[in-house]
Amino acid sequence: MNKRLIVISLLLILISISCEKDIPLKNGSTFTDEDGPTPYYLEIPDGFTEHRIPESNLLSKEGIALGKMLFYEPLLSRNQNISCGSCHIQENAFTNPKRLSVGTNGEESSMHSMALFNLAWQPYYFWNGREKTLENQALKPVVNPLEMDMTWPEVESRLNNHTEYPKLFLDAFGTEVIDSILVTRAIAQFEYTLVSADSKWDSYLRNEVDLSPLEEKGRLLFVGLQKGTGDCTHCHSEINPNIGDFVMRNNGLDSDVALKSGYSEVTGLSRDVGKFKTPSLRNLAFSAPYMHDGRFESLRDVLDFYSEGVHFNLTVDPLMEFATDGGVDLSEESKDALIAFLLTMSDSNFLTNPEFADPNK
Ligand code: HEC
Ligand code: HEC
Repeated sequence: MNKRLIVISLLLILISISCEKDIPLKNGSTFTDEDGPTPYYLEIPDGFTEHRIPESNLLSKEGIALGKMLFYEPLLSRNQNISCGSCHIQENAFTNPKRLSVGTNGEESSMHSMALFNLAWQPYYFWNGREKTLENQALKPVVNPLEMDMTWPEVESRLNNHTEYPKLFLDAFGTEVIDSILVTRAIAQFEYTLVSADSKWDSYLRNEVDLSPLEEKGRLLFVGLQKGTGDCTHCHSEINPNIGDFVMRNNGLDSDVALKSGYSEVTGLSRDVGKFKTPSLRNLAFSAPYMHDGRFESLRDVLDFYSEGVHFNLTVDPLMEFATDGGVDLSEESKDALIAFLLTMSDSNFLTNPEFADPNK
């Protein structure tokens, strides 16, 4: 055998040995390197159910760190002037105070931005629930002309030509070849870690603190089912620690002529017109304005609506029991108490957790 053949056969042997050591890993990729990404287990807070993180995108420390960089990366937008974090701001529970958000070209988004937390427990995403996975959701703002206005090939080329990203993808996913699938997997990994479960309400559920008399009065109104109480728990279920069951409903915001398409865009059914995802009521202290179009500036406005502004429209939810007479009819004192109760679900540590902050700041 000549020298060259010996070298080649040695190489082949080496390759086959190292192949045996391949660690079949998450995300469908294999690492020939024993120090592949470090698995990360997302803890389930007390009282929460099992999360819905897909087998195809199990979390790793490297994936989460990369996802955080990408979440705050302006290269994902046409004019390199906005990132996901521009419309989803940590101090606003990852929504933002504008009624409609401003995209890369200075135009306004069509809906109010959504607060982002406890996403690992949600069955679908967007106000009308049109995306079933967080990974797919992240594809959309990048190509939305009112938001980041890019194409995925352009994003991929910017990231593949970047000085740092290929190495970070190698560490997280075992390949330097960056594509939209891996970008959105990494972003989703970071988003799954945005857990908010550290409010006074959580301590109350763990029997660690009492509510004040006003907050307790508000809690009773929240779960009350008669007229003059809130009747909120029918949809924003009190048992679910997220205080929302995410079901698609029409809560009577508009008259028939003003009804938006909502969930019917997903199902094509006229009975789903005007239905939107029932949101979590956590962190309302930080996430104004409220509803899919941000129409209410304060919780007072929200309660005035549920009290006396409800429309009995074509698809209003049967659980809006008092829609035929305009609402539940709350006294001003009852509104004060309900607001005090809702504010027990504020988790200010979530807003200041450095794990979630822009790594470039
Ligand atoms: C220009 C502002 C803007 C930018 C930039 C933006 N978003 Fe959003 N985001 C929104 C708006 C508005 C909605 C609600 C849109 C709808 O329902 O039609 C939303 C909804 C979402 C949701 C759904 C949450 C839920 O509870 O259903 C997620 C998740 C999300 N965005 C993540 C991201 C990620 C990741 C990026 C970056 C890749 C991003 N957003 C960039 C404005 C923005
Ligand atoms: C019939 C079901 C139903 C009932 C009852 C109900 N809600 Fe809602 N709630 C919804 C839906 C659906 C939305 C989202 C509507 C939209 O944006 O179009 C919503 C939105 C909200 C929001 C806005 C949250 C955000 O992030 O923008 C608040 C606050 C709220 N509800 C509080 C309450 C309170 C307090 C009560 C009791 C007085 C109550 N809700 C009763 C279904 C209901």
